[in-house]
Amino acid sequence: MTNRFEGRRVAVTGAAGGIGLAICRSLAEQGAQVYGLDLKGLDGLPAGVEAVPTDLTSEESVAAAVRGLYAAVDRPVDLVNSAGIVEDDVAAEEMSLDQFDRVMAVNLRGVFLACREFGRELLARGGGAIVTIASMSGNAIVNHPQRQSAYNTSKAAVSALTRSLAVEWGPRGVRLNTVSPGYVNTPLNSLKTDMHAQWKGETVLGRFAEPVEIARAVEYFLSEDSAFCCGTELLIDGGFSLR
Ligand SMILES: NC(=O)c1ccc[n+]([C@@H]2O[C@H](COP(=O)([O-])OP(=O)(O)OC[C@H]3O[C@@H](n4cnc5c(N)ncnc54)[C@H](O)[C@@H]3O)[C@@H](O)[C@H]2O)c1
Repeated sequence: MTNRFEGRRVAVTGAAGGIGLAICRSLAEQGAQVYGLDLKGLDGLPAGVEAVPTDLTSEESVAAAVRGLYAAVDRPVDLVNSAGIVEDDVAAEEMSLDQFDRVMAVNLRGVFLACREFGRELLARGGGAIVTIASMSGNAIVNHPQRQSAYNTSKAAVSALTRSLAVEWGPRGVRLNTVSPGYVNTPLNSLKTDMHAQWKGETVLGRFAEPVEIARAVEYFLSEDSAFCCGTELLIDGGFSLR
């Protein structure tokens, strides 16, 4: 491992989840000061990752997290938006507005809120990097056999939001890009084990991604290696969308 993120500060939402945890671990191993934001599960964060209990559905909670990070040290904090939830195979005609809103509140509103709060501070300090995690479900495919119209819609919106903010903030030094995974081996998929064989069978590479394979793409967008990427969406789906 190199120290390529030495001196960087990075906040990761959904830090206790499968992908968020891998991002936190990898960035910390490469020298970053990492802040793990999540609702729960923060006891399990790797050494060197600071827990910041945060509810992304609450404006006050996110604002307090940002205030806390800048009160401690006044240096830019980059942002990775990994928190996300999915409904559990609900037919659209049966879906309540509560179910729809719950998904949107985390996956879209929460991403907007975190981008706004962290982005404001980056803009005031000359720039930085923000990475969102959308999904192949946003633009490349519609998942099946499970029905998850709210999730898919939220992820398409995350891609659009990322491009929109990239255009607004790119000229002022804040770069936004998005990583869109296919199926990843994480708790998000743990309830639908009866579908795993089908999903793997439809993936050209015949397996799920490991969380660290998504973390590598996030690192690319955080690093200067991606200096000319602006609103880029990187699809990492093992070829699922090709079939
Ligand atoms: N796992 C996959 O197959 C897959 C595929 C494509 C995209 N994604 C996306 O990748 C991201 C990470 O997914 P994952 O597989 O690690 O999921 P995960 O379920 O393992 O982790 C998600 C984390 O988000 C946190 N979270 C939920 N609501 C929150 C809130 N209101 N405030 C703060 N934190 C909250 C949860 O506590 C959890 O720790 C998500 O945005 C997901 O949609 C995942």
